This record gives sequence, C-alpha cells and structure tokens, in this order.
Amino acid sequence: MLTRQMGPWTVSALGLGGMPLSLRRRPSEADAINLIHAALDGGITLIDTADVYCIDHRDIGHNERLISKALRDRSDRTKILVATKGGLERPNGAWPSNGRPEHMIAACDASLRALGVEKIALYQIHAPDDEVPWADTVGAVARLREAGKIQEVGLSNVSVEQIEEARAIVPIVSVQNRCHFLDRSGWEDGVIDHCTRENICFLAYSPVGGSSDYADIGADPQLIAVARAHGASPYEVALAWLLTKSPVILPIPGASRMSSLQSILRAGELLLGDGEVAGLG
Ligand SMILES: NC(=O)c1ccc[n+]([C@@H]2O[C@H](COP(=O)([O-])OP(=O)(O)OC[C@H]3O[C@@H](n4cnc5c(N)ncnc54)[C@H](OP(=O)(O)O)[C@@H]3O)[C@@H](O)[C@H]2O)c1
Repeated sequence: MLTRQMGPWTVSALGLGGMPLSLRRRPSEADAINLIHAALDGGITLIDTADVYCIDHRDIGHNERLISKALRDRSDRTKILVATKGGLERPNGAWPSNGRPEHMIAACDASLRALGVEKIALYQIHAPDDEVPWADTVGAVARLREAGKIQEVGLSNVSVEQIEEARAIVPIVSVQNRCHFLDRSGWEDGVIDHCTRENICFLAYSPVGGSSDYADIGADPQLIAVARAHGASPYEVALAWLLTKSPVILPIPGASRMSSLQSILRAGELLLGDGEVAGLG
C-alpha cells in the first residue's frame, strides 16, 4: 500500500471510512469487526469516524465504540490512526450542525470516552455552523488541543477562506471534503490546489460516489474502459485515479461488505498509466 503524509503521521494512502458500519443498514458487530481487522491486515492504517456515525441521537458514538472494540486486542493498535469528528448532531436521524463551543467541548469529551483514549490523534470539525461564528468553533477546538485532549486538528466541509481563518487560530493538518471522479468541486472551489500548495492532507470523502453517485461511478464508460484494461472494477479505477491527482489526496472509502473492502485493497495496488490518467481528466 502506498503511503501519504498527514501532519506528523505517515499513513496508508487509502483510509477506511467507518460510516457504513454504523448507519441503519449496518452489519452485525462481529461482521463489522471482521471487516475492520481485514482492513488493517490489508495495510490500512487510517480509520475515519465521527461521533454521529450512528442511527440517531440514541446511539451517538456507535462507530467510535465499534472501532475501539475492534482495536482492543490488536497488537498493532498503536500504529493505527483513528480520526474522529465533532460538530454535528443526530436528532431523530437528521444531521444538523452544532458548532457552539460548549457543544464541541462536550462532544470531544464523549468521543474520548467512546474511543477509550486519553488523547484523540486527529479531531476534525465536521462542518461549519452558519449560526455560530467560525472563529468561535475553531477557538473551542484550539483550546481542546491546548488542554491536551487532542493532538492535531482537521476541518471538514470547508472553503479556502474557512481553512485560512482557522489556520490563523490553530495549525490544521487535514481537510475532509466530498470528492470523486464525477464530483470535481474540490478543484472548482480551489480547495485541493490550496491544500496541495500548503501541504495539508485532503481526505476525499464519498470517493466512490457515496449514496447519491455510486451507481453513476459504476456505469461510467471512461472508468469502465480503463477498468477492463486492468481486470479491475470502475470503483477501483476511481480510487486509483484520485491518488494520482495530488500527493495530498487521501481517499477514505466506506465499506460494510467484505467484497467492497477487498476491492478497496486492490485499488491501493492499481497503477494507472500516464495516458490513462490524462484521458480520465
Ligand atoms: N465529512 C463528511 O461530511 C462526510 C460525509 C460522508 C462521508 N464521510 C466519510 O467518508 C467515508 C466514505 O464516504 P461514503 O461511505 O459516503 O461513500 P463511499 O466511500 O463513496 O462508499 C459508498 C459505498 O460504496 C461501496 N464501496 C466502497 N468501495 C467500493 C469498491 N471498491 N467497490 C465497490 N463498492 C465499494 C460501499 O458499499 P457497502 O457499504 O455496501 O460495502 C460503500 O458503503 C465515510 O465512511 C465517512 O467516513 C464524511
């Protein structure tokens, strides 16, 4: 597996997105833990989670507790980077923002307990809250860092302006925005180029389309043509293509089926030719 630099850490170039293991159609706990173990055995060293990866407000922290349980008996657990997030809520299954400082502090404390750690390696602000000044949300997370509860800070769902406003308050090692073959907004809004210039890791979420564009990625004629030439799937080409686009891009595909995970691991070994990459744009 290729690697990427994220702040002080060298991690696998493909991370595992934990979300599908904790939403409504989640697998059994035993199957989910098997999948996480298979990801680690396959060389993945970054797992992305969030307090709100759960069904609703009644099981906040489900995904963090699951990952903590999966790592408990692993001798390699100190080599695995678990990145979590705070700043959203899950009332009756909705996903509203809550960037109020008091919420960020309470959410971080709850994530520390759910993950069973004394310090969170990477704590990401899940999304800006339109009703809270961005500097107030970031300031609360900066204070969590000063207090030693988190090591590094990441942002999610942000613009270049929000990245720079945050960096004036606290160092930022990662930005997590939506990005895949059919969603080029990360180039249109300048965030990927900015992260590349500033050496900020860009965690590409929903990299095989998420729930809305998954079918379109699988049916894309360009991806299918390149996939055929490699005996791969269009999803594997979509992941391998992302890795070629910038040294700071680190896709974090989600998986709840073992077959999806195995395909993600194959994508980590898939090398595309320069002509293929140029053709895919
Ligand atoms: N920061 C944010 O606001 C935000 C938002 C959304 C997601 N995320 C993060 O990003 C991660 C990934 O996003 P996502 O889960 O929405 O979408 P995704 O990575 O595009 O994956 C969607 C689904 O595609 C399937 N899949 C994945 N890799 C595959 C492959 N190689 N071949 C065939 N099928 C494959 C999986 O289905 P099965 O589940 O059936 O295996 C997966 O659940 C999440 O888990 C989460 O950690 C962050």
